[in-house]
Amino acid sequence: MKPKFSERVVVITGASRGIGMLLTRAFAQEGAHVVFAARRLDPLRQLETELQASGHQVLAVKADVGVQEDCKRLIDATVQRFGTVDILVNNAGVSGAQKPCWEVDAAELDETMKVNVFGPLACIRYAAPHMIKKQAGAIIDIGSFTGKRPAPNRTVYATSKMALLGLTRTAALELAAHKVRCNLISPGPVAGERVEEVVANAAKAQNLSADEVRKNFQSWMPLGEMVSEQEICDMIFFLASDSGKHMTGQDINMDSGIVMF
Ligand SMILES: NC(=O)c1ccc[n+]([C@@H]2O[C@H](COP(=O)([O-])OP(=O)(O)OC[C@H]3O[C@@H](n4cnc5c(N)ncnc54)[C@H](OP(=O)(O)O)[C@@H]3O)[C@@H](O)[C@H]2O)c1
Repeated sequence: MKPKFSERVVVITGASRGIGMLLTRAFAQEGAHVVFAARRLDPLRQLETELQASGHQVLAVKADVGVQEDCKRLIDATVQRFGTVDILVNNAGVSGAQKPCWEVDAAELDETMKVNVFGPLACIRYAAPHMIKKQAGAIIDIGSFTGKRPAPNRTVYATSKMALLGLTRTAALELAAHKVRCNLISPGPVAGERVEEVVANAAKAQNLSADEVRKNFQSWMPLGEMVSEQEICDMIFFLASDSGKHMTGQDINMDSGIVMF
């Protein structure tokens, strides 16, 4: 059977661990040419070596999406190596400061916005012209449930992810005439390394035990279980493929029912 994404050129940010790393492997295994980025080069190089050894066409790029020139360099490197960009996954994200809104200063919000919003905007800005030229493309942004079901001390993160939703929808509208689609996935807590860090930080900020925080998370989910990284990758595949060809400007909640709108 022909691989699902044979020779499609995919750019993935935030690929040195978690969802981005799993997604890089998954796209490579489905025949895509994958360019993947993060700030830490060592895990990227390891992944590149592993995938190239299995005959996959991949390129690791050290890039901080909080730096606009790095986003340009990432897209330029992709086009130089593989000729175009077909699929962009704006996955890199940071949690930012965890404190009550009245203690947040503008610099803390700005730091998080740089990575969670200005980075995706820059990647879209540099990738979209290549998609417009082909009159085809798919952009998938990774948001979060936190803007829609507020959690204590998450002002900075929630604000950035709701801004990302605004960016996704506006980009979807503007790019639709060029057959380029743009959608957002809003995960709930995802089982993995990062959620354990979020639990530890929340426990510290709220003076609770890690178990109490986990139970709180659980109590928000009608289905009672965290979503897996694999499920997020499956949805990205769906949105990036022809299965999602009539979906644009959507915000897909994947959170065991935390948000039902
Ligand atoms: N895990 C969850 O519970 C959860 C829930 C809702 C939404 N999400 C969202 O899902 C996405 C992926 O989450 P995850 O769980 O896979 O997170 P993760 O395990 O913390 O991985 C985040 C990735 O982003 C990279 N990154 C962070 N800042 C970056 C920057 N400035 N420039 C480039 N890369 C950067 C990190 O690598 P370096 O440190 O090497 O740069 C890492 O590879 C994020 O947008 C996150 O907000 C996650």
